[in-house]
Amino acid sequence: MTRTVYVNGEYLPETEAKVSIFDRSFLMADGVYEVTSVLGGKLIDFEGHLARLERSLNELEMEKPEAFDDLLEIHRKLVDLNGIDEGMIYLQVSRGSAGDRDFVFPDPEVVKPTLVLFTQSKPGLADNPVAKKGIKVISIEDIRWGRRDIKTVQLLYPSMGKMAAKKEGCDDAWLVEDGQVTEGTSNNAYIVKGGKIITRNLSTDILHGITRAAVLRFAREAQMEVEERAFTIAEAQDADEAFVTSASTFVMPVVEIDGAKVGDGKPGPVAKRLREIYLEESIKSGI
Ligand code: PDD
Repeated sequence: MTRTVYVNGEYLPETEAKVSIFDRSFLMADGVYEVTSVLGGKLIDFEGHLARLERSLNELEMEKPEAFDDLLEIHRKLVDLNGIDEGMIYLQVSRGSAGDRDFVFPDPEVVKPTLVLFTQSKPGLADNPVAKKGIKVISIEDIRWGRRDIKTVQLLYPSMGKMAAKKEGCDDAWLVEDGQVTEGTSNNAYIVKGGKIITRNLSTDILHGITRAAVLRFAREAQMEVEERAFTIAEAQDADEAFVTSASTFVMPVVEIDGAKVGDGKPGPVAKRLREIYLEESIKSGI
């Protein structure tokens, strides 16, 4: 099926949507993005994604696209036009195209940002069978840049991490810096020990996950203990449970780390419960 996508104010068939070869996201990875999930045709945690987008733009001194205030309407229209019940909406803003290659940022008065959105239909996203058996991760050194709190499109290293995991028969990689886990290639990482949920504290070292914020809020509301601090791979292998969170996987149990089973090698009760609560609550508040 040909999708209808959005490019700079226009809704077009995906085959007709075009961006300049001089676009700075293409030449310099000078762009930021958001992924918002759709469940039951509703947008999940939309305000959080919009707020983080605004923050990413500010941190990079990138202009807001003209249609910034219409983003909710644009998301909803794409869900509607493409008949999305479960899936994701990908949004990307780049610093635009100055019609040539130059390291120096173009004058924002002259060169306007490029705004692109498209949908990804994923029937069965909430009832994902993978969540019932959990995923296996490997660990790799975190050699990304130092501003991981900005959601940029520089995703080559995370891609390489996923490929390294795949080569070893695993599903994903956890990134390790100075002996401590920062996060997953495209998700935030957690362990559970003695009933306590442990996840790295927010800083420029990790992306401030929108799903993370919601899950930690639900966990605290359910009287679960949360500790925000770094942990090592050895501590994670010795934990009772492990899991990751993101807009596309929600809460996903991790059952093996670098070949060592976590707990009994099956998804644990805390991850299962948090997944249930997250799905229930976020579907209720979807817009
Ligand atoms: N990734 N950490 C990293 C490095 C990420 O790329 C992501 C999201 C997260 C989780 O953030 P959130 O809960 O807001 O989705 C953490 C998205 C899903 C992606 O790149 O597809």
